[in-house]
Amino acid sequence: MNHLKDKIEEYRKTFDEDAARVKDEKSLQEVRNLYLSRKRGYLTLLFEKLKTLKPEERPEVGKSLNGLKNYIQGRLQNLREEMAGPEETLKKVDLTLPGRKRYWGSPHPIHLFQQEIENIFLGMGFSIEEGPEIETDYYNFEALNFPPHHPARDDWDTLYISDDLLLRTHTSPVQIRVMEKRKPPIRIINPGKVFRKESPDPTHLPMFYQVEGLVVDHGISFAHLKGTLEYFLKTLFSEKIKIRFRPSFFPFTEPSAEVDIECTVCTGKSKECRVCGGGGWVEILGAGMVDPQVFKNVNIDPEKYSGYAFGLGVDRTAMFAYQIPDMRYFYENDLRFIRQFALK
Ligand code: DAH
Repeated sequence: MNHLKDKIEEYRKTFDEDAARVKDEKSLQEVRNLYLSRKRGYLTLLFEKLKTLKPEERPEVGKSLNGLKNYIQGRLQNLREEMAGPEETLKKVDLTLPGRKRYWGSPHPIHLFQQEIENIFLGMGFSIEEGPEIETDYYNFEALNFPPHHPARDDWDTLYISDDLLLRTHTSPVQIRVMEKRKPPIRIINPGKVFRKESPDPTHLPMFYQVEGLVVDHGISFAHLKGTLEYFLKTLFSEKIKIRFRPSFFPFTEPSAEVDIECTVCTGKSKECRVCGGGGWVEILGAGMVDPQVFKNVNIDPEKYSGYAFGLGVDRTAMFAYQIPDMRYFYENDLRFIRQFALK
């Protein structure tokens, strides 16, 4: 047994010396045959001698013999690759294959559009506030002057989590949260997600974005509201965009209005337009003067202060800004659509 072990060690050394002298394919083949040839290779002979050992001696010697064999094979493979040189490597690479493209991510179009909106309001001295997407019934409805069971609640198809918790149906609860913690003057916007139990269609989604606005100070009037929204819409669209204010109802504003712009998809010319229904106008904002009851709910004296508020549908407005006939495109993640908005 010891004789075999000595032989293994000896061959390891002589192989290293032989390998160091390899300089071409021919000498490589010679060394290979010397050690690994099936008939008379040194290692082949040692493997045969292994059989003459006692069974209990075989595993240990067999292991080191296998180790030497792996070592020799690996070393010969390396030598072959080293000798092959760069040309051989290049032969293995198909230079006619197209390269791998890298795709860079980009902010989502709705996010970019929201930033545009924010920038216009920041320029007018508004600041940005945030509020939770899961709200209590109190903030989403009651503090905004929707008493329990009031039929106006039916206009908001609410997704309830429990009797008291819900996914906010609008960003208006942030008005309450801000007025609770701050005294006027207040001039804020709040962009964020809102949720409604709606089936998706070209102009409705169960999740969409709004930007809420609130201004509270001494002597704020409807003229301030109108001037601010007109300036905002003309900056966002163009000087020429047609805007109209229509009387409306919201429990938390009095008087209330809805703001329409002309339909940019058909510019009022198509009776079959899927977006404006042929009417030529599309609603993008709800607005009004803050109801005195809302002020009382947050301990602001309505005799001293007045204010206006508005809520803008971001996805809807983006549709009209980019003349997209179907709001669902924004969320289908079709790269052919989405890449058109990527930052260059
Ligand atoms: N929260 C309303 C909605 O989602 C929109 C709205 C109307 C917001 C009037 C306001 C407002 O701040 O004053 O339909």
